[in-house]
Amino acid sequence: MSIKEIIKMGHPLLLEKANSVIEFDTPELHKLIEDMIETMEEASGAGLAAPQVGEGIQLVIFGHDTDRYPDDDSIPFTVLINPIITPLSEETEDGWEGCLSVPGMRGLVPRFQKINYKGYDQFGKLIDRDVEGFHARVVQHECDHLIGMLYPLRIKDLRFFGFEDTLFSE
Ligand code: NI
Repeated sequence: MSIKEIIKMGHPLLLEKANSVIEFDTPELHKLIEDMIETMEEASGAGLAAPQVGEGIQLVIFGHDTDRYPDDDSIPFTVLINPIITPLSEETEDGWEGCLSVPGMRGLVPRFQKINYKGYDQFGKLIDRDVEGFHARVVQHECDHLIGMLYPLRIKDLRFFGFEDTLFSE
């Protein structure tokens, strides 16, 4: 395993649409996922998308990090490939987000409160889940990376975008 460099906002690859994964259960795919897991853990992230480590494919990983989000519901560690998200209601809620490609910053982002997501794991096994709240938020954030969308582009009011250490002091 090796830690990959996480590319930052401003890099053109983060604005591109990722390609579908065609072949599952390959040594290259497993190696990339191992490296992404190590990279995400080292950075204490809740999720990581392949384009963030320079791979323009529809692959995200996410899972709950109890150190960083002690008050949130747990999210099972998941490898999600070629995802499709369907909102289960029109209802949205605002929540604070950060991103390993936008280090040190936080922004208030509206997301669908309840979604269904479908996709495949690294072996080609179907994943089909109805989720809500923080789990739904993390999936929407990570899958946005696959369509070249970064969370600052979704902030409705840029007054609620700033440096984490300043926003949450006091
Ligand atoms: Ni992100």
